Amino acid sequence: MVEHTTETRAAEVDAVILVGGQGTRLRPLTVSTPKPMLPTAGHPFLSHLLARIAKAGMRHVVLGTSYKAEVFEEYFGDGSELGLEIEYVVEEEALGTGGAIRNVYDRLRYDTAMVFNGDVLSGADLGAILNTHIEGDADVTLHLVRVPDPRAFGSVPTDAEGRVLEFLEKTEDPPTDQINAGCYVFKREVIAGIDAGRVISVEREVFPGLLSDGARVLGHVDSSYWRDMGRPSDFVQGSSDLVRGIAYSPLLEGKTGESLVDASSGVSGGVILVGGTSIGRGCVIGAGSRIDDSVLFDGVTVEPGAVVRNSIIAAGVRIGANVRIQDCVIGEGASIGARCELEGGMRVWPGVNIPDSGVRFSPDA
Ligand code: GDD
Ligand code: MG
Repeated sequence: MVEHTTETRAAEVDAVILVGGQGTRLRPLTVSTPKPMLPTAGHPFLSHLLARIAKAGMRHVVLGTSYKAEVFEEYFGDGSELGLEIEYVVEEEALGTGGAIRNVYDRLRYDTAMVFNGDVLSGADLGAILNTHIEGDADVTLHLVRVPDPRAFGSVPTDAEGRVLEFLEKTEDPPTDQINAGCYVFKREVIAGIDAGRVISVEREVFPGLLSDGARVLGHVDSSYWRDMGRPSDFVQGSSDLVRGIAYSPLLEGKTGESLVDASSGVSGGVILVGGTSIGRGCVIGAGSRIDDSVLFDGVTVEPGAVVRNSIIAAGVRIGANVRIQDCVIGEGASIGARCELEGGMRVWPGVNIPDSGVRFSPDA
């Protein structure tokens, strides 16, 4: 018998990444950029996932795209720079998560496909998930994690042998805090069995259907780092966890610390950059400002004395002197006048110009 290492196994697995969603909860950042391409710890979010896929030994990647489909190919091309071979499949009308998986079927090369939600930051051992699938001779294996509040996710109870009992997508009273982590291993023939050419949700239709048909669906539970990047607070937390090395990315080996600043940006004296802050290309950070636990995209200007906490600042934004920003999302090219205070989940739309004023903006102001 030939002994297969995890890596040789992974080389014969297709990676499929679902990146067609609209990223509604991250508006206005996703008005111009699809969610998986937003800068996170100095790279588009998807680059971190692709690097993990490559490191696990997979080579062939299919991206299921729809919303702003062209952006992905423009950036990643054929994938050779990452040591991958990337193909792109475009849904003219979004087909839903199940439809997207079915839609890439004729690009699959192997008997096993590992499917990823394109907005999950995870430290899971992908080889271990593949092993659970292959050794358990499963039709489908789901990566599962425990979270404090499972209501926003798919709740997935399993029995003592790890067999999935139910799949309950976003319910008010989930039976378990064990949730779908957004990474699945499929036998290729199971993908062939999904209805083609119509909108279908893998969570609401395909998984419940497989379970009622008696398919062998296994759960692989672990306690690795895990975060869905879909909401602003999670996006900021995920990016800062990457910068600080709390979440792992092969792209950041040897570069983790309190902040990550692109070499093309200028940081004046007396500036404090902490909490896993990342600063993109061509930013100018003025004297005496403090930026804590925040993500600044490219070309952001922060004038002296400003304080930014827990926020996402899109490309080309200008933040005036002595501004205070906390828990906010500032859209591309907006300008925040000197001495303004913004807090409590405020979202400033792209190009908006708030004059110098010292006015305080908060949801209850
Ligand atoms: N190609 C394509 N077409 N991709 C899609 C489509 C589509 O129609 N709809 C969504 N996607 C992609 C999104 O881009 C994202 O990467 C992924 O599928 C999941 O969509 P989200 O919109 O982020 O779903 P969610 O976070 O509410 O819930 C999902 O993820 C949770 C874990 O993060 C579900 O799978 C839950 O069960 C799960 O717990
Ligand atoms: Mg999500």
